[in-house]
Amino acid sequence: MGNTYSIDTVSAGHVNYARVRLWLATSFFWFAAALLAGYAYSLQFIRNYPFAGIEWLSPGRVRVTHTSGVAFGFLVTATIGLMEYVIPKLTNRPVLSQKVGWLALIVWNLIILTTVIGYLFFGQMQAIEWGETPTWIDPVVLLALAIVAVNNVLGPILKFSLESGRGLYVSLWYFTAAFVWTAINYFVGNFLPQYWVPGSAGASLTSMYIHDLVGLYVTPVGWGLMYYLVPVVLQKPIFSHKVSLLGFWALAFLYPLNGAHHYLFSPIPMWVQSLSIVSSVGVHLVVYTVIYNFLQTLRQGGTDSYTKLPLRWFVAGAISYLLTCMQCALHVTLTVQEHVHFTDWVVGHAHFVMFGTFSFFVFGFVTYLWPRLWGKSGWWSDSLNHWAFWMMAIGNFVMWTSLMIGGLIQGASWMALEPFTKSITASEPYWVTRSITGVGILLGYSFFAVNLYKTATTRGEKAPAMARPALAM
Ligand code: HEM
Ligand code: HEM
Repeated sequence: MGNTYSIDTVSAGHVNYARVRLWLATSFFWFAAALLAGYAYSLQFIRNYPFAGIEWLSPGRVRVTHTSGVAFGFLVTATIGLMEYVIPKLTNRPVLSQKVGWLALIVWNLIILTTVIGYLFFGQMQAIEWGETPTWIDPVVLLALAIVAVNNVLGPILKFSLESGRGLYVSLWYFTAAFVWTAINYFVGNFLPQYWVPGSAGASLTSMYIHDLVGLYVTPVGWGLMYYLVPVVLQKPIFSHKVSLLGFWALAFLYPLNGAHHYLFSPIPMWVQSLSIVSSVGVHLVVYTVIYNFLQTLRQGGTDSYTKLPLRWFVAGAISYLLTCMQCALHVTLTVQEHVHFTDWVVGHAHFVMFGTFSFFVFGFVTYLWPRLWGKSGWWSDSLNHWAFWMMAIGNFVMWTSLMIGGLIQGASWMALEPFTKSITASEPYWVTRSITGVGILLGYSFFAVNLYKTATTRGEKAPAMARPALAM
């Protein structure tokens, strides 16, 4: 199957390289902070918490620093930066205003900083899962999302569509939808249950918020980035534009109905829970169409998929996606849910997809882009990049496996009505394994971070801006 879209028809002239660099650099700073927080918190489970007795580093505060840090500090910041690169390339238009673009970067990072200060130093958290950002920061988040949406994303895409009269490449569909959904979703999740909709009605909105944050921001943006980068690296078009749109529309119709599957067996009306299960099964259609399109596109590149490092990150990410979506096909059923809810099985799923899939996509994209952003002919060290890949890939896989096994053991113990402490003792080997894999992930990430820094700062051969595809990957 062919398609009529060709990414190479676009120009690079409208990308603000300095700002893309800063979005990415700040996202990697937040990633380091979030990883350290996650690692420290994992030691609490094995009774070795390093900050015992220090109020501002108490485990509860450190946990949300980890979860908000990876989601908002890292994934959202990095993907906004990558979209600032991709959208001008695909639309041949810059952001609407460069000044507003800088303002958005500064405001967004201040939001993350004040959120972390609010958590750690003032113990302020909104009692909404994934929406813990202190309530007084929420309006600023909404405003910042609206600015990014209009200035960086929807503005250039709309201008391109109106002025050129051409259809949108699938990545642009995904980015457009992600920002429309997320602006609404952030309001629904953070304001309605807090101020106007209490009780189980509010809980069903919260469940929708959790799900739509990952399903209608992280997922579409991640796949939009994949649909851009993989054809660029392979220098081949995507296998099928039609199949990509099937995936997009199935996501648009089915994902928003899934939310209540986060709160199965809760007081939310049973028909809402059942609907969420049925539409979750439907969502697998999306998963398989996207994976199929991805694999067929890769096939055109022969051995490139494992010899070119950016693609290797994407392949590892897609494998994690497939595996965890097969896992979630199981845990979304009431029978399995009864066994695994509240256990580490879910934590494993969350890591495998947020880290193993969508963070890996970011790493893959950055592996391709970073030297180009600095006009360098390559990375400071290729071998450090390979080490980073393998340490994070193995760490991610082992962490997922151990949490899954630990989760099943916890579930079995609770179902057998054993004393709770017994399940804790039984979980210890798996929690120790998690902390060990955490060391591997941290080390792998340190290699990557050193390489980012050295590539940016080492005086070296500069590639002329437009000769960048000459880089070997
Ligand atoms: C076919 C697709 C998916 C299905 C059916 C599914 C299903 C579920 C279910 C049922 C839960 C709740 C489990 C429980 O609490 O017992 C859950 C949790 C979670 N899922 Fe998924 N999932 C899917 C895809 C994804 C994707 C693509 C992401 C990330 C981009 C994701 C991220 C998460 C996270 C972070 C949690 C933990 C949320 C929390 O803190 O409670 N899931 N998933
Ligand atoms: C050094 C590596 C890491 C370690 C040791 C670690 C550890 C932890 C721990 C201990 C928790 C709390 C689990 C609980 O409350 O039962 C957690 C939660 C979480 N972490 Fe990590 N983490 C790491 C890396 C990451 C990365 C890279 C990501 C994503 C990019 C991530 C995403 C999450 C998410 C989404 C949750 C919430 C899970 C849920 O509520 O179900 N973590 N992590």
